[in-house]
Amino acid sequence: MSAVVDFRHRRDAAGRRPSGPTLPVSPALARYVEQVETLLAGAADEAALAARVAGALGELACERDLLTPEQRCGDADGYTRHLLYADPQGRFSVLALVWLPGQGTPVHGHTAWGAVAVHEGRPTVVLYEYEPGYGALPRQDIQCVPGEVSWVRAGIQYPHRICNVSDRPAITLHTYGRDLSRNPTGINILV
Ligand SMILES: [Fe+2]
Repeated sequence: MSAVVDFRHRRDAAGRRPSGPTLPVSPALARYVEQVETLLAGAADEAALAARVAGALGELACERDLLTPEQRCGDADGYTRHLLYADPQGRFSVLALVWLPGQGTPVHGHTAWGAVAVHEGRPTVVLYEYEPGYGALPRQDIQCVPGEVSWVRAGIQYPHRICNVSDRPAITLHTYGRDLSRNPTGINILV
């Protein structure tokens, strides 16, 4: 397993201690967090930011031994969210999601921009077209492989779902543009 860095001594730009839960952060995740912070500082718009964060997340997803055994655990009752990092200023959160065979989300949009990268396995991303008055119409199934990335703007008008139709577990990494340390499901808007 990779070494972990304890960020409990970290302070935000204003010198405050983080108010959310403190989590051990591996060197690879710490580098990624710094990349996201840099991208946030120079972000021109939401789409450009999400796309650039997705690129960095794809590199993180290729790191071996990124997750602890606990962060790789799934649950037979449904896909599992593991919070990896919560920005002390509430600007973004990083999660690992574990998908056992047959598990998936309902069709949803997001309350904030999001980026996703495949860490292990072959999950499927299903994209939908949002038609006001009709809901979400399936448009494209994408069979993903490790290292593959995607991103999405905030809003119900960008519906999608992720599922694992393979016979092996899958793990995806996610970064969302809001604080999910207290309410990890608060990112989804069901369509
Ligand atoms: Fe999503």
